[in-house]
Amino acid sequence: MRKTTGTVTRKLYIKTYGCQMNVYDSGRMAEVLAPLGYAETGTVEEADMILLNTCHIREKAAEKLFSDLGRLRPLKARKAEDGGRLVLAVAGCVAQAEGAEILSRAPFVDLVLGPQTYHRLPEMVAKLLRGEGPVLDTEFPAEPKFDFLPRDETPQGIAAFLSVQEGCDKFCTFCVVPYTRGAEFSRPVASILDEARRLIAGGAREITLLGQNVNAYHGVAPQGGDWTLGRLIRALAELPGLLRLRYTTSHPGDMDDELIAAHRDVPALMPFLHLPVQSGSDRVLAAMNRRHSVADFRRIIDRLRGARPDIALSSDFIVGFPGESEEDFDATLALIGEIGFAQAFSFKYSKRPGTPAAQLQGQVPEDVKSARLQRLQDRLEEARLGFNQSCVGRVLPVLFEKPGRHPGQWVGRSPFLQGVHAEAPAQCRGKVLPVRITGAGLNSLAGEVAMAEATA
Ligand code: 5AD
Ligand code: SF4
Repeated sequence: MRKTTGTVTRKLYIKTYGCQMNVYDSGRMAEVLAPLGYAETGTVEEADMILLNTCHIREKAAEKLFSDLGRLRPLKARKAEDGGRLVLAVAGCVAQAEGAEILSRAPFVDLVLGPQTYHRLPEMVAKLLRGEGPVLDTEFPAEPKFDFLPRDETPQGIAAFLSVQEGCDKFCTFCVVPYTRGAEFSRPVASILDEARRLIAGGAREITLLGQNVNAYHGVAPQGGDWTLGRLIRALAELPGLLRLRYTTSHPGDMDDELIAAHRDVPALMPFLHLPVQSGSDRVLAAMNRRHSVADFRRIIDRLRGARPDIALSSDFIVGFPGESEEDFDATLALIGEIGFAQAFSFKYSKRPGTPAAQLQGQVPEDVKSARLQRLQDRLEEARLGFNQSCVGRVLPVLFEKPGRHPGQWVGRSPFLQGVHAEAPAQCRGKVLPVRITGAGLNSLAGEVAMAEATA
């Protein structure tokens, strides 16, 4: 929860749907609204403004917005009856893709703004309060929004996020991101280093670099020229106080030599990589316009494991893409068996209006998609549990973030992004301590701080 420094006059409730980029953007929107006197609240009933930061990646995510709006409508009416005013704002990718549609389906919405115009939010609120609303702003302005957003002054905690790149030029045929987030854009190195230093000063010990296509990063370097993500990671790893680095989400086509070398050479870069493959069938990958084959993916994994043998892998999978046959699906299951993912996300293909795949012949029936998803998820869960169980008996370095539910218990993360509950000393927040893993479930590990190793 963020606080304002000025006189607090109004309350802001933010609901964030979807990815980490949205979580990060919600934080930035709270920052731009703070000077207007908006302070965040966790109670929807007391809000003067409700901001829904939406996700458009799959149909279900977009539908959630309209059902939430339906529930908020009476709240807005009640507030008006009491002589007050509730401002309803819709931000994010649904706003970008369906701005006008939102205002016609839910005319009680006051503000609709796309991901590129958050820095203009105060101006939009002012217009609205002057009686010029509702306001719709879903442009892709030429100026990069990062230059206009305020400095993040709010400590994010031990594990912080930092957005370094936005947008995507890959145009996978199923995906809305190139349309909702726009063309690929990388922030300059200097502003990223500045923000990282501020996060560390605020207590961050781990930073996850965010971008829709983060490993396509090519930001302007302090001495001119461009830096790749691998080069940026090397520079960030040198910042005093920073213990851990991660990045997400990547595309196999952008796993270049410098990034793979960073996995070999930079101890702060955690041995974990989320690298979506989507399918184990070359035919499906071609129809998805993924621009990589299954063999390319295998080669990348081999090289990564050569650089960092203990690297744990995560991925995204789509089942039931148009034209996916039983053989194609079996090839995906085979790839999962072969690679051994420590965790993964999997989805039924969801037809997104305006994307090329929505027009393809051979749409797969819903019941077939559901059955395939179930089989896929069973395999992925088995692999995940297997990976977690393989950690039992090992001593893993855990970065502790917060107290757990039980007295003396703390919660942290392993290098492989697993949540770890452990009995730990009172002063362990923000420290990496060796933990002997004693138990493993599907979602987390249990253990105890290995005192001999901790004091050695
Ligand atoms: N249908 C299903 N899954 C999708 N994803 C993106 N678009 C779609 C869609 N239309 C999944 C991909 C991507 C993840 C963020 O969401 O697997 O990697
Ligand atoms: Fe979407 Fe990722 Fe493909 Fe870009 S690379 S179009 S964000 S799935």
